[in-house]
Amino acid sequence: MNGHIERELALEIVRVTEQAALAAGRWTGKGDKHKVDEVATEAMREVLNELPISGTVVIGEGEMDEAPMLYIGEQLGKGGPKVDIAVDPVEGTNITAKGLPNAVTVIAISEKGGLFHAPDMYMEKLIVPPPAAGKVGLDWPVEANLKAIAMALNRKVEDLVVVVLDRPRHEKLIAEIREAGARVKLIGDGDVIAALAAAMRGTGVHAVMGIGGAPEGVLAAAALKTLGGEIQARFYPEDEEERERLEAMGASAEKIYTTEDLAPGKEIVFAATGITDGDILRGIRYFGGGARTHSLAMGYATRVVRFIDSIHLFDEGARVTVRL
Ligand code: FBP
Repeated sequence: MNGHIERELALEIVRVTEQAALAAGRWTGKGDKHKVDEVATEAMREVLNELPISGTVVIGEGEMDEAPMLYIGEQLGKGGPKVDIAVDPVEGTNITAKGLPNAVTVIAISEKGGLFHAPDMYMEKLIVPPPAAGKVGLDWPVEANLKAIAMALNRKVEDLVVVVLDRPRHEKLIAEIREAGARVKLIGDGDVIAALAAAMRGTGVHAVMGIGGAPEGVLAAAALKTLGGEIQARFYPEDEEERERLEAMGASAEKIYTTEDLAPGKEIVFAATGITDGDILRGIRYFGGGARTHSLAMGYATRVVRFIDSIHLFDEGARVTVRL
């Protein structure tokens, strides 16, 4: 591990999410989630192709036959170290289309083999902050996990807020969390940014529980490697066909996957840019002749977490007053 890939990409990677967010931002609140995804994917792909990498998409927009861009296996970059790329050009297409909070654009890049090739299916997840890492179990009763998290954070279960995707499948889970005394924050979409919020203090959330996308689980793990905290996850195939697909990829529906299993890389860069205002990142703010973006960029080997506030000037010779 020499941090070579990370140093090379530390800031470049933010351009990828910034451009995707700037493209998606124009479609915020316009009710068209497909367009949101399309423009962000296109923008992301364009910048990725300018980077000094030989990249392979391992988590992307779908299989080659179903996604025209950023499909699994697509080769990107203008040449350089061999890397694996996990993307979610818009994490929260619905919330972007509706103009609701917490939509982001996300990417992680590692050395080859550093990010688990998770199939696009559901996954049961438990995500906890750094002090609770190693002290919880996906198989444990909800109450036992909440007690362990509370103890690790030196507070009572009543002082915890747990993020859960607002879906009928979580009815029992939500009841159990409330029964145990904790509060639930229901979200419409976007469990990657929720995972990041749970791993940081000052966000007012302390865990994420429930079933969400497996690709999102890998992206969360890529960020948790640097931030600390922990994800425990188990694939949740919905039918025999999904189970077979999972097994064909050498994965198992019984195994509990850890942060390290999902993001084993020694060098991992992760970036996210806000599309709409959220718990961690501000959304895109357009002004005459430009826009402002707010991003997070991290490197696991280089051990740095950056918040990046960028002002983009669109027009040549634009006279823009830069505000603090
Ligand atoms: P999009 O990427 O389609 O915008 O959806 C994001 C998301 O809400 C994830 O954060 C979450 O893991 C998954 O979808 C949940 O899936 P479902 O909407 O099927 O419950």
